[in-house]
Amino acid sequence: MRIDNNIRYYTQPISNRTSFTSLFRLSSCKDSFGVERSTQNSTSSRDDLNYDELAEIAKNRFKKYEKINIMPMNGSDGTESYCIANSILKTFGESDAEKRIFPIIVSDIDTDIIENYGKKGIVALGEKDENLFGKNLSKYFDSTNMSELPDIARYPKDAKAYKLKPKFKENFKFEVMDFMNRLKTTKDEGNSIILIRNCLAQSYTSWERSLLLSELDNIIHDNSLFVIGGYDRANIPDFVQELETYGFKEVGKNIFSKNNTVYSKLAEPMIKQKNFFSDFIMKIKSSFKFKF
Ligand SMILES: C[S@@+](CC[C@H](N)C(=O)[O-])C[C@H]1O[C@@H](n2cnc3c(N)ncnc32)[C@H](O)[C@@H]1O
Repeated sequence: MRIDNNIRYYTQPISNRTSFTSLFRLSSCKDSFGVERSTQNSTSSRDDLNYDELAEIAKNRFKKYEKINIMPMNGSDGTESYCIANSILKTFGESDAEKRIFPIIVSDIDTDIIENYGKKGIVALGEKDENLFGKNLSKYFDSTNMSELPDIARYPKDAKAYKLKPKFKENFKFEVMDFMNRLKTTKDEGNSIILIRNCLAQSYTSWERSLLLSELDNIIHDNSLFVIGGYDRANIPDFVQELETYGFKEVGKNIFSKNNTVYSKLAEPMIKQKNFFSDFIMKIKSSFKFKF
């Protein structure tokens, strides 16, 4: 792994990634394609995902499911997942969220980022991030000394160091894993939210992206959600059209599903019954064909 971060703060927006506010780190890791992959890490309050909208969609869509699997597959320093959890807690309420959703397994290919941030429960939050948590900021985080922040990254000028409160920290488990490997071992029963956001445009070829989408297509249930990043969307021409060829439709901002009607498990017996009757009619028809 190569790491290229000697400066502790950055003062300029890094290219057009102005919304990546929590940290900046440039390194690389070998992924399951055997390719040395750039792993730029970042942010929490990206405007490209409305966390409250995602929680609301999940609440309606997965009503009848006892469990909901939220799977950030390139979760970086965890900030994306903390924002999701904040909205989930608001929308579902604490006891439902604890029973049905937590812990969220956050994975990323970058060992250093997983070990130094997520696993330690430490994070840098900018002003925008603090505003996003609002009054819940002090419920979930304790502020801590800047010197506690890992020196493997650079931080924005307005960043402050925070530690996750133990109860909030229990909601997450961090693992080093390549998203292709995680997809391969995922058994989706229609109750999943799979997030792979804002890394594809950085260093993936269109061929590698096609392999990823075909693996996703193999495992994702029609009712589940796939969440993409605005940076990938803006920088990969035809990304959305590519998703559409696999049957995905946009059901929320950067949130996709093959089923754009809210699917309820209650409908399953009706669908089975419908199939049973059409099979039955087919059988009668073919037996008539046989006789005459
Ligand atoms: C720009 S950050 C995005 C973080 C977060 N998803 C977001 O949108 O805020 C990109 C992350 O993708 C991770 N990544 C790149 N390739 C990966 C792979 N094959 N499997 C898992 N994580 C990967 C990098 O290590 C990095 O942490």
